[in-house]
Amino acid sequence: MPALAVLLQQRSCPRDATDTGMAGSGHAVVDIDDAAADEAAKTLLAPVPYVLCFADLSYSVKKGGGLAGCCLAPRASSRLVASEDAPPPSGSSRRAKTLLDGVSGEACAGELLAVMGASGSGKSTLLDALAGRIARESLRGSVTLNGEPLHGRRLRAISAHVMQDDLLYPMLTVRETLRFAAEFRLPRALSQEKKRARVDALIDQLGLSRAADTIIGDEGHRGVSGGERRRVSIGTDIINDPILLFLDEPTSGLDLASAFMVVQVLRRIAQSGSVVIMTIHQPSARILGILDRLLLLSRGRTVYAGTPAGLNPFFAEFGAPIPGNENPAEFALDAIRELERQPDGAAALADFCTKWHNTSAVDKESKLMCTMPLELAIAESVSRGKLVAGSGSGSALSGTVPTFANPAWMEVWVLIKRSFMNTARMPELIAMRLGTIMVTGFILATIFWRLDDTPKGVQELLGFFAMAMSTMFYVCADALPVFVQERHIYHRETAHNAYRRISYGLANAVVAFPPLVLLSLAFALITFWAVGLAGGASSFLFFVLIILASFWAGSGFVTLLSAVVPHVMLGYTVVVAILAYFLLFSGFFINRDRIPEYWTWFHYLSLVKYPYQAVLQNEFGVASRCFSRGVEMFDGSPIGRLPETVKLRVLDAISATLGTNVTANTCITTGADILAQQAVTDIGRWKCLLVTVAWGFVFRALFYVVLLVGSKNKRR
Ligand SMILES: Nc1ncnc2c1ncn2[C@@H]1O[C@H](COP(=O)(O)OP(=O)(O)OP(=O)(O)O)[C@@H](O)[C@H]1O
Ligand SMILES: [Mg+2]
Repeated sequence: MPALAVLLQQRSCPRDATDTGMAGSGHAVVDIDDAAADEAAKTLLAPVPYVLCFADLSYSVKKGGGLAGCCLAPRASSRLVASEDAPPPSGSSRRAKTLLDGVSGEACAGELLAVMGASGSGKSTLLDALAGRIARESLRGSVTLNGEPLHGRRLRAISAHVMQDDLLYPMLTVRETLRFAAEFRLPRALSQEKKRARVDALIDQLGLSRAADTIIGDEGHRGVSGGERRRVSIGTDIINDPILLFLDEPTSGLDLASAFMVVQVLRRIAQSGSVVIMTIHQPSARILGILDRLLLLSRGRTVYAGTPAGLNPFFAEFGAPIPGNENPAEFALDAIRELERQPDGAAALADFCTKWHNTSAVDKESKLMCTMPLELAIAESVSRGKLVAGSGSGSALSGTVPTFANPAWMEVWVLIKRSFMNTARMPELIAMRLGTIMVTGFILATIFWRLDDTPKGVQELLGFFAMAMSTMFYVCADALPVFVQERHIYHRETAHNAYRRISYGLANAVVAFPPLVLLSLAFALITFWAVGLAGGASSFLFFVLIILASFWAGSGFVTLLSAVVPHVMLGYTVVVAILAYFLLFSGFFINRDRIPEYWTWFHYLSLVKYPYQAVLQNEFGVASRCFSRGVEMFDGSPIGRLPETVKLRVLDAISATLGTNVTANTCITTGADILAQQAVTDIGRWKCLLVTVAWGFVFRALFYVVLLVGSKNKRR
C-alpha cells in the first residue's frame, strides 16, 4: 500500500489519473496474463507520476577529432557555432561542432514523447544525453527525474535504452533470446511459468508469433527479417517493464502496420506508468495520432515542443499554416528541411518556438508539483509490478530497487547456458579448432615418428616439444574474435544491469574450458605414442595436463587481449608478435644461462617456458634412460665421420687418459645431463604445471579488471 502522505500528495495534484491516461490501463505489458483480474484493483490506486526534466542540454565535439567533447555555454553564446555552416569564431571553439544546443523539455509518465527531426539533427545524441550515455563532464545542462539528478546506478537500475542497431546472439531463436532476457532481468522469485508467459505475451504483442522459433541469424546464417530483429531487440529491453525507456528509432525498417504495433506497445508501457521517449523519422498519420508529445530538433536546437495537435496553431502563428489534408508531422519536417537550406538554418523557427512557449499558457503549471519524491515513487512503482525485479537480490538501491534482478550464481548459470546454446549451434567452429589441432598433431607425429634415444633423436625431441608447446598458444588465437564480437552485446547488457560484470568474466572462463579438454586429449593421443615419448601412462597423463594448462593460459591470454584491442586484425598482429617473443625466450632457441642478464625477466614471463620445461622434465627425468653411448658421443663432430674401428680406438685412448673403462656400451649422456645442458632444472615439472595454470587465472582476473574499468559505453 502507498504511504498515506503519498496518497494525500496525489490527491492534491491537478494532473489526475485521467489526465495522464494511466487510470484504467494498469500494467498491460507486464501482467498480461492477469491484467484483467488486476484491473479493478489498479484503478483504485493513484498513478505514480514521474517527470523527467531536461534543461539547457548542450553538447559539442571537436570537429575531425571525433572525441574530446567540450561544453559550450547554453543558447546565447553557443548560437555562434550552432550551425556547422556558420563561420567559426576564433579560439579553441573553432573546431567545435555543436550537436545539442540548449535543448530543454520534459517527459511525463503516461505519455509517449517522440523526438523528431531530419537525419543528423541530434535525435540520437539527445537520447544518449538523457540515458546517461554521455560523460557528465562533456554534457552541459541538467537531467532530473522528479527533481532529482539522474545518473549512475540509479539510472541504470530503472532504465532501458534500445539503440539504433540490433545486437543479438545470431544462433538463438527469437523465443530463446527473449527467454534469456527474461532470465536476466526478471527475478528468480518469479516462477518459470510466469516468465514464460511474459515472454509469450511479449512475442504476441510485438507481432513475432510467426518468427518465434526462427534463429536471429547473421551474414552467414539466414534468420529473421530486419524488422523482426528490430522488434526482438525492443523486446529484450522492455521485458522487465522499466520506469524510463529510451528507444532510438524503434520503428525504422518496419512496415506501417508493424511500426504502428510497436508504437502501440510503447504507448501501453507509458500508460502503465513509465516515461517513454523515442526518436522517430517520419511517423504516419496513425502513429502521430497516438503520440502524446513531440519534440522537433533542427541542428541540435528545439524547433517545436508540444502535442501533435499543437502543430497546427504553432505553424499557423509562425506564418506557415499546415494545409488540412497534410500529415502535420510530414509538413513540419518538410518546412524545417526547407528552412535548413537557408544560411541561418531554422534559427528563426527555434527562436519563434522559445517565444511561443514563453507567451502561451501551455504547460506553464510545473508538473513537478504533482510528483512525489523519487524514492517513494520508485518504491510505489515496484510494488505495482514495475521493473518486475522487486524481490531480486543485489545491493539494494534506495532500499527499493535492487541493482540486479538475480544473484550472481544465477547470472553465471544463465550466461553459460546461453553461450553453450549459441556455440552448440555453430559446430563448425569447434570442428575447425579440433581439425587444426589434429592436423598439427598428425604432421608432428609423422615428422617426429618414433624418435630414438640418440643424440640426434634428442635434438629432434627438443624441436618437437618447442613446436608442440607453442602450437597450443597459437591455436588459442581463435578465441580472439569471440569477445571482440560479443563485447558490444556485453556493454549494452551491463549498461542496464542485466548482470554483473564478474558474472560475465566467470561464465566466459567456464564456457571456454570444456573444448580445451577435448583439444588436449586429441593432441596428446595423436602425438604421445607416435613420437615415442617415454614414461607410460603417468607420463601421458602429465602430458595431457600440461597441454591443457597451456591451452588454459593461452586462452586466458588471448581473451584478455581481446578485451584490450579495438579490432580483431590488430589483435591477431599483437598475439602473433607476443607469442613469437615467448617462444624466443622460452629456452629452446637459447638456454636460460645464455640469455643476456637484462632479458632474464622476460624469460620468466614467457608463457612457453613453463610447459616446455615441464615436458622436458617429464621426458628426460627417467633415470635409467641413456641418450648417447660409447662412440655416439662423436656424432656431429669430425670424428663422427671416421670408420667405426677408428672411433673405438679413440674411445680406448680416452679410457686410458681418464683412467676409466669407457666401452661402446658405456652411457655418456643421461636424461639428467640433457636437462642440465638445456638449463631447465630451475623449476620442477609440477611447479611448472602450477605456474602455467596460475597464468591462466591471472589473465582471467586481468580480463575482469578490464571489463570493470574498460569502456563504459559512453560518449566523451
Ligand atoms: N564525434 C562526432 N564528431 C562530429 N560530428 C558528430 C560526431 N558524432 C555525431 N556527430 C554529428 O552529430 C549530428 C547528430 O547526430 P545524431 O546521431 O544525433 O543524429 P540523428 O538525428 O540521430 O540522425 P539519424 O536520424 O540519421 O539517426 C550528426 O550530424 C552527426 O554527424
Ligand atoms: Mg539517430
